[in-house]
Amino acid sequence: MPSSRRKFIQRLTAASALAATQSIAKPIVQVIRPQAPAYIPNLKSVSPNDKIRFATIGMGIQGNYDTRAALRNPDVELVAVADLYQGRLQTAKTAFNNPDLFTTRDFREILAKPDIDAVLIVTPDHWHDHITIAALKAGKHVYCEKPMVHHINEGKAVIDAWKKSGKTMQVGSQRISSAAFQEAKRMVQAGDIGAINYIESNNDRFNAIGAWNYSIPPDASPQTVDWDRFIGDAPKRPFDAKRFFRWRNYRDYGTGVAGDLFVHLITGVHFVTNSLGPNRIFSSGNLAYWKDGRDVPDVMTSIMDYPKTDQHEAFQMVLRVNFANAGKIQNVTRIIGNEGQIEFSEDNLILTRKKLPMAPGYGNYDSYFTFTPEVQQEFVRQYDAQYPPETRKADPVKEMRFEAPKDDDAHGKHFGDFFTNVRAGSQGTIEDPVFGFRAAAPVLACNESYFSNKVVYWDPVTMTQKTGPEATAAKKSGAPAKKPAASATAKK
Ligand SMILES: NC(=O)c1ccc[n+]([C@@H]2O[C@H](COP(=O)([O-])OP(=O)(O)OC[C@H]3O[C@@H](n4cnc5c(N)ncnc54)[C@H](O)[C@@H]3O)[C@@H](O)[C@H]2O)c1
Repeated sequence: MPSSRRKFIQRLTAASALAATQSIAKPIVQVIRPQAPAYIPNLKSVSPNDKIRFATIGMGIQGNYDTRAALRNPDVELVAVADLYQGRLQTAKTAFNNPDLFTTRDFREILAKPDIDAVLIVTPDHWHDHITIAALKAGKHVYCEKPMVHHINEGKAVIDAWKKSGKTMQVGSQRISSAAFQEAKRMVQAGDIGAINYIESNNDRFNAIGAWNYSIPPDASPQTVDWDRFIGDAPKRPFDAKRFFRWRNYRDYGTGVAGDLFVHLITGVHFVTNSLGPNRIFSSGNLAYWKDGRDVPDVMTSIMDYPKTDQHEAFQMVLRVNFANAGKIQNVTRIIGNEGQIEFSEDNLILTRKKLPMAPGYGNYDSYFTFTPEVQQEFVRQYDAQYPPETRKADPVKEMRFEAPKDDDAHGKHFGDFFTNVRAGSQGTIEDPVFGFRAAAPVLACNESYFSNKVVYWDPVTMTQKTGPEATAAKKSGAPAKKPAASATAKK
């Protein structure tokens, strides 16, 4: 590495470390973890110039948002775009104010360019693993949108490619870089709500765009859209603009409400609790309203059991989406412990602390009044002896609000973490592929449970799917075990 570049990186690293110790109110706080996790080597990255030159692969809705968030960081430059719809390639040149921006329908042309350091992969879910692995093999650093993979059995190949490459990779559930999530983690780790026993979240909607029926451009055709490339390894079918522009509604390309929405919450929960994931997952639901040809449910509830670890007690998590909620929509996320709860509201959070007194009390709707007077007297005598007055008072309920700084930019900071680690030659991002897969796999298991009508068993430590007790019992009795759903487990 030329010494001028090394000095530049050292300066940046020192500045970033300083920024990290200062205030969370800064627009971009870049954090270098002092040490990468033990399972990865800490290889040096060399970029041919001072700026990190990146390309966006998939310049649709989120591709535009991601690119803008990336560009809110210093010393990075958008140099190329790949997309499969001609209009979006054209729009990118004006949107990013660069008529000479390199654009292509073929992402491989981007990977072949030696002067591109990093790629943002913002395609539909069925392309994530293919482009990620190809990019890492081509020596690019990768920012890949959530969910990291389309199917559970694709996760390990991505992790292996990342480890082998020595490149930096960040998965894109950017909310964990928000001040609110950082604060929630601090509160949980400080024991502010006691031991967590239950987490709930719902994400209801009642509008067509919210239910993924995005606008289709009137010039959509096999000429303006590279349909064959879009299909990739999904089943072949004739051109269908609805499938291209509303791909979330089809399992061939998307991952339903679980992969699209639950994944953000589970990522946040793993970040806050230091959990590796659930070991039992069950979903149920229905396609209740949006019967427009989609093959994913619009109402779905999933229950996940998290086993006790050295980081937390066992807890249950219940996630729900209802895209047909014509009632009052009150979306909320609550982390509930035995001494309080944390409730997220927009970008802020409310901590409520509530501790039970030691004395259980008696009277009112209780069995006490059913005792004879003599027994009641004896009961009170024993109770008074066991519970002196100081054990009878509950601590007053305390509520604390955390207001995120107005300019808190989670998205920009998530990219900041990525770029800082790229510069440092570190693989220790806040949402590396091991973390990303530990969040993706359980939500993909939610789909497997829904479509196969079964409980899915998962080993969060080894990241492998397990056979459930039903199959073990069936084996013992000689009955054929139910096979895992082909759609959820078979390689595309
Ligand atoms: N992190 C978040 O908050 C967040 C929010 C929305 C979407 N996302 C994720 O971003 C991804 C994209 O979602 P979107 O809403 O932008 O979809 P979109 O349909 O608006 O855009 C996807 C784009 O990818 C392009 N594309 C498809 N296959 C390609 C290929 N092989 N090579 C190059 N380009 C290709 C399409 O032409 C399209 O323009 C999804 O994985 C989604 O889950 C994340």
